Amino acid sequence: MTTIVLLSRDTVLLGQLQKAFAEHAPALKVALADAPEAAEAEVAACWYPPAGSLGRLPRLRLVHSVAAGVDHLSTDPSAPLVPVCRVVDPDHRRGMTEYVRWAVLHYHRDFDRVNAQQRQNLWLRHPQRPASQFKVGVMGLGSLGSAIAADLASAGYDVRGWSRSARQLPGVACSHGDSSFNQFLDRLDLLINLLPLTEATHGILCQKTFSKLAPGAAIVNGGRGQHVLIDDLQQALTSGQLRGAVLDVFEHEPLPAEHPLWQMPGVVVTPHMASAAAHDCIVRQVADNTRRLLAGEALNNLVDPSQGY
Ligand SMILES: NC(=O)c1ccc[n+]([C@@H]2O[C@H](COP(=O)([O-])OP(=O)(O)OC[C@H]3O[C@@H](n4cnc5c(N)ncnc54)[C@H](OP(=O)(O)O)[C@@H]3O)[C@@H](O)[C@H]2O)c1
Repeated sequence: MTTIVLLSRDTVLLGQLQKAFAEHAPALKVALADAPEAAEAEVAACWYPPAGSLGRLPRLRLVHSVAAGVDHLSTDPSAPLVPVCRVVDPDHRRGMTEYVRWAVLHYHRDFDRVNAQQRQNLWLRHPQRPASQFKVGVMGLGSLGSAIAADLASAGYDVRGWSRSARQLPGVACSHGDSSFNQFLDRLDLLINLLPLTEATHGILCQKTFSKLAPGAAIVNGGRGQHVLIDDLQQALTSGQLRGAVLDVFEHEPLPAEHPLWQMPGVVVTPHMASAAAHDCIVRQVADNTRRLLAGEALNNLVDPSQGY
């Protein structure tokens, strides 16, 4: 029986995962980094692994993210060149879809405006727009973005989707590649980011992008904090170019208490809560890929190292 080592800077998560492995995969040998048997590990299950921790595992054959994203693995540059897998959970899709539905209604039905009005005891109704006249764009049409785009299309929104390679989704105007980006953005009322964080997508939510949207558009960031250039966002909100931003992810989490985003008018801050894979699902997927690795079978949800996601 091989050993799976759990690596994270988040000690609370480590305890939760240990418990989940004991409950849902009791036959597996699971260790924390400081246990002597960790040196035997062929699989590392990771969330923000401490620097140098992967490089200390001489028998390592698989790095498994315990989340949908893999960008957090960059906290440990010592990782040897072994396959990397991630967790793809249907409940992830449900959680993110619920979160985005709420954010879309927040702007489409003017809850942002009436919330601000309430603080001024102001009774003011805004003209209602049918969903079909509210243009929503989803950047990233992978496991999460495709579910969201389809959900919004079925709710009647005018939905566009953008990805790296060509995709087709019923009711969604799909485009792909850098050359179609401006056309995708053109006069959107709401831009939703569900891209992975890679060199190509870093800082994609910037002034140049905002300038292509409809005046007074809004953004929702469910991807990663580093997708947003905060100074550009602040300027766009102050000038009224953007009416608001729903932000679930931040470069440094937890968002420091003194960070200006907390108090920035028009910004909704949520604590990276849009969706999380259930612990039993993480355990099942890591256990299944471990079994596959040992049996020489193809691994599930393998990351393409050339693309970084
Ligand atoms: N806030 C939260 O709670 C939370 C929870 C889970 C995940 N997330 C974030 O959500 C992200 C998306 O997750 P996922 O599972 O849907 O990822 P995924 O399945 O890997 O899909 C990524 C999508 O982005 C597209 N893409 C990647 N690079 C691109 C580029 N340079 N230009 C245009 N499109 C590009 C891909 O295009 P192709 O279709 O051509 O490959 C694909 O459609 C994660 O990476 C993570 O950052 C956040």
